[in-house]
Amino acid sequence: MTDLSGRVALVTGGTRGIGLATAKALAEAGATVVLTGRDESRAKEAAAAAGASAGLALDVTDAKAVSTLVRGVAKEHGKLDIVVANAGIMEDALLGMIKEDLVDTTLSTNVAGTLHTVQAAARAMMRKKTGAIVVLASIVGEYGSAGQTVYAASKAAVANIARSAAKELGRSGIRVNAVAPGVIDTDLTAGLAEDAKADNIARTPLARLGAAEDVAKAIRFLVSDEASFVTGQVLGVDGGLVL
Ligand SMILES: NC(=O)c1ccc[n+]([C@@H]2O[C@H](COP(=O)([O-])OP(=O)(O)OC[C@H]3O[C@@H](n4cnc5c(N)ncnc54)[C@H](OP(=O)(O)O)[C@@H]3O)[C@@H](O)[C@H]2O)c1
Repeated sequence: MTDLSGRVALVTGGTRGIGLATAKALAEAGATVVLTGRDESRAKEAAAAAGASAGLALDVTDAKAVSTLVRGVAKEHGKLDIVVANAGIMEDALLGMIKEDLVDTTLSTNVAGTLHTVQAAARAMMRKKTGAIVVLASIVGEYGSAGQTVYAASKAAVANIARSAAKELGRSGIRVNAVAPGVIDTDLTAGLAEDAKADNIARTPLARLGAAEDVAKAIRFLVSDEASFVTGQVLGVDGGLVL
């Protein structure tokens, strides 16, 4: 089992789904974990469920709040080793139906939110010249998806945040990677029609939807020393759906 004892980790969007499963997986491996969500009481409840040391309120669209929270966590624990920029939203719209609001909310959460988190993480990790960051891309960011142009564009940007930050931060001992999940059974995909789910399963070599824990295990690998020479990668966690 991966050993993360002595590591301090922060997971954004840790109140449910992939973020909650990741917080649990990191805590089970021995890390001290802080998770965040937009609502403080939901974050506290999730922290208790995950075995995390704290659950804090944070909206990742607020650059100043992200910077303050990340600095605070690093100060309280004396360092910050692992950051998982997981918070994200998904809303579908066909090209002709895309409203400006949807563009703003999606880009400010998925792109700017991830950027704020990676930026703050890099600042906190730079001093110790070590750290591992994972961001949440998606298969649709790599391959596109009808009805998901805005979301796919946001996730393509997230993958390139990982690649660019990896190039910039490598010499400071900081690794940055992305995971690109396929269709994972969480609140985010709960609205998918049953026939769309069945179609996805039929096209997936491993013949099922992903579980949040499948993605969490891949993230735990990427932030661990097992991945010590891995940076700038976008790791598919999709059961082979894109093949
Ligand atoms: N599920 C999939 O099939 C799938 C596939 C590819 C990629 N992903 C990506 O994986 C990540 C997690 O997805 P999920 O399926 O676990 O989604 P989820 O179950 O809907 O959870 C989303 C999490 O993000 C948080 N969040 C949303 N907006 C936020 C904001 N502005 N500031 C801070 N936190 C915010 C939510 O917290 P609160 O609501 O409590 O604030 C929640 O904890 C997302 O980036 C998503 O795009 C998911």
